Amino acid sequence: MRKKTKIILMSDIHYRCGNYFGRFSEEIAELLCEDLAAEYKKEPYDVLLLLGDYSLDHWGWYTKGTYINEGISNAKLFVEHYLNRIVPDGVSVRMIAGNHEQYGERLWHELTGQQRRDHLVIGDILFVLTDTFGADLDPTEHSDGTYCGANVTDIMELMARYPEKKVILCAHWFDINTESQEFCELLRKDERIICLFCGHNHKSGIANTGEKNGNKPILYTGHYSYSGEPNNIRCLPGYRVLEIDKDGLLSKYVVRPHTYKIDNVKFSNEYTEQDILELKF
Ligand SMILES: [Fe+2]
Repeated sequence: MRKKTKIILMSDIHYRCGNYFGRFSEEIAELLCEDLAAEYKKEPYDVLLLLGDYSLDHWGWYTKGTYINEGISNAKLFVEHYLNRIVPDGVSVRMIAGNHEQYGERLWHELTGQQRRDHLVIGDILFVLTDTFGADLDPTEHSDGTYCGANVTDIMELMARYPEKKVILCAHWFDINTESQEFCELLRKDERIICLFCGHNHKSGIANTGEKNGNKPILYTGHYSYSGEPNNIRCLPGYRVLEIDKDGLLSKYVVRPHTYKIDNVKFSNEYTEQDILELKF
């Protein structure tokens, strides 16, 4: 493994789905590109892991999902307009689907060139990106997706294929309370699993799978749209940096300085690193 590997994880971009923090959609997408360019300039990242909800292509509320209504996939448009800009040469990218992208595997690949679930090996770590909303796909009715839990067979098969690797599990969302016995047992019994990353709640933070489920840290990837925190300014648009070397990992949620607005109140935030986790191997 190279001295240090730098990975960016982000989720819940919801491109062209609203005005967030007083910014129009195209503006906020520009800020996202600027932020990642600044992050890359500070120190190049090697991998970009996008954990779902680039859109409201499928949505059960208000104006409903754009794909069933108008045949518009904002996930596809996000890829076309922005993906190249945030994936410099030499950077690996994985882009799994969220609950607002309920496309079957074939259509997801057609629209984005990506896979609903995926994996990659980075140095001594196997990253498994599991599809916890992989049920009731290609719907004809509007909904917010069906949570089906982590694909344990898939995860175990990959872990068996890479028996020497430590494992990090990623998904759009992990709802530990409704997860299968098999998944909870895997978390509890397998020490190779270091931690989990997910989005969906639009929060930055660190939780824990609990005593019965192996006490593994779950790191939330925040959002680049609207905050899921009651206190909006505690979780501004940002992304998670994960740095790994042979001794351990460090992860932090990064918010870069911008001017935003909440309810007509304009404010500027400073560069912030928050919800930091350091783990020794
Ligand atoms: Fe979501």
